[in-house]
Amino acid sequence: MYRSRLGSDLSDVTLDYVSSINEDLQIALYDILGSEAHTLMLYEQQIITKNDAKKIISALESLKNEKFDILSGAEDIHELIETLVIKKAGMASGGKMHTARSRNDQVALDIRMKIRDDINIVCNSLLDTIEALVSLAKNHQKTIMPLYTHLQQAQVGLFSHYLLAQADVLFRDFDRLYTTFSHVNQSPLGAGPVGGTSIAIDRHSTAKMLGFDSVIENSLDATSTRDFVAEYVAMIAILMTNLSRISEDFVIWSTSEFSFIELSDEFTSPSSVMPQKKNPDILELTRGKTSEVIGNLTAILTTIKGLASGYGRDLQQIKSSIWSTSKISISALLILKSILLTLHVNEKEMKKATESSYLIALDIAEKLVQNEIPFRTSHKITGALVQLAHKSNKSLIKLNMKEIITIAKETKTNPDLIMKIIQSTTITSSLKERKSFGSSGYDEQKRMIEDRTKKINSYRINITKRNNDILKVLDHLSDKINELIK
Ligand code: ARG
Repeated sequence: MYRSRLGSDLSDVTLDYVSSINEDLQIALYDILGSEAHTLMLYEQQIITKNDAKKIISALESLKNEKFDILSGAEDIHELIETLVIKKAGMASGGKMHTARSRNDQVALDIRMKIRDDINIVCNSLLDTIEALVSLAKNHQKTIMPLYTHLQQAQVGLFSHYLLAQADVLFRDFDRLYTTFSHVNQSPLGAGPVGGTSIAIDRHSTAKMLGFDSVIENSLDATSTRDFVAEYVAMIAILMTNLSRISEDFVIWSTSEFSFIELSDEFTSPSSVMPQKKNPDILELTRGKTSEVIGNLTAILTTIKGLASGYGRDLQQIKSSIWSTSKISISALLILKSILLTLHVNEKEMKKATESSYLIALDIAEKLVQNEIPFRTSHKITGALVQLAHKSNKSLIKLNMKEIITIAKETKTNPDLIMKIIQSTTITSSLKERKSFGSSGYDEQKRMIEDRTKKINSYRINITKRNNDILKVLDHLSDKINELIK
């Protein structure tokens, strides 16, 4: 349709190469809404007549249920929709729809509308997953487990503390996406191909009709920037790396060697040959799909970095990376939520793991500190105690007075004090005494759970309002349209 100055049509191979129609199905509805707002504005600005507007908008309305034919020969959804509008409304009216805009501002508009919806969906899914983490944490405030550094047992902790840590990570993902939304929700519509238009359009009016917070002012910037895409995908890439780390923990903890957790059957896969297998494929796929999202981010950044100013067709290629990023993250969150809600936690095994090691070493050292021994000295004493116990393959509490005296002598400490501290330090006592803000001590769990529960609610209110604001504006647009075409 656009080949006014071009002699010949594209061959099938070239058309297939150049066409984005497949990817564009995801933005068809946004394209229709954008075209409706644009047409209303053209009418309100007296650029087209009421009759023209009525015909164009009626045609657009009928396309809302259209199953678009991807083999129509159109290069993209913008061309296809315009062709169909002209077919339905006639050239005299339909041919006016594309007045004072370009596919360059149009496609930027559609992508922004799609991403802003996706952000709201991801944010809601994040809150659902956070809620599942906090509700599981509520049930495991007394579930003792080792905390790891270097995947080596480090300190004794609580499963709730682990889960709340993951909740906080996801809250930050929410915050990042919530901010990104404001960079996305700016209207490029009416920027034209690159430099604006001589026709007396009203860009603020279309922005308002479509629920944008503002217009993206400079027409060159509006049509050619995709920094908002890179930002969105980067935020999701970070989110996915966070989900991938949780997945890795759960994969490790569901091995028979750890046996800390058992995934519900619906989130595991069998082996084609080994009948006993229960593999954590779903979580492994979260790790695998994270790589895909990171790849999407790389594809987007490398597409943008070498582009001269103004729109370039390279930008067409980044759309599938956006869609795939959204789909992966939403599914990953939904699945993780269900995994958490159906997880079997092997409390006994978790606790047992803390007993076979010297996890209370730091707690003993800190008790020595509380008896006026410098930390460096108490570190040395406790290290020597662990070494001694380890050599004779026993726990610290089994060390006898003779053994303790040798260490006390070397460090000029009172052996009775050391003995008393060893005897009174257990895994539970250490969790009771751990009081620092945000620690894995018992008391902190309750406080953090209450605080995070409130936080979920206030975040939920914000995201629901944001979503409803858009829905309200689009309802208003639909009322305006019905009024016009009735
Ligand atoms: N299909 C194109 C895309 O997705 C639409 C914009 C084409 N603009 C152009 N001047 N060729 O980016």
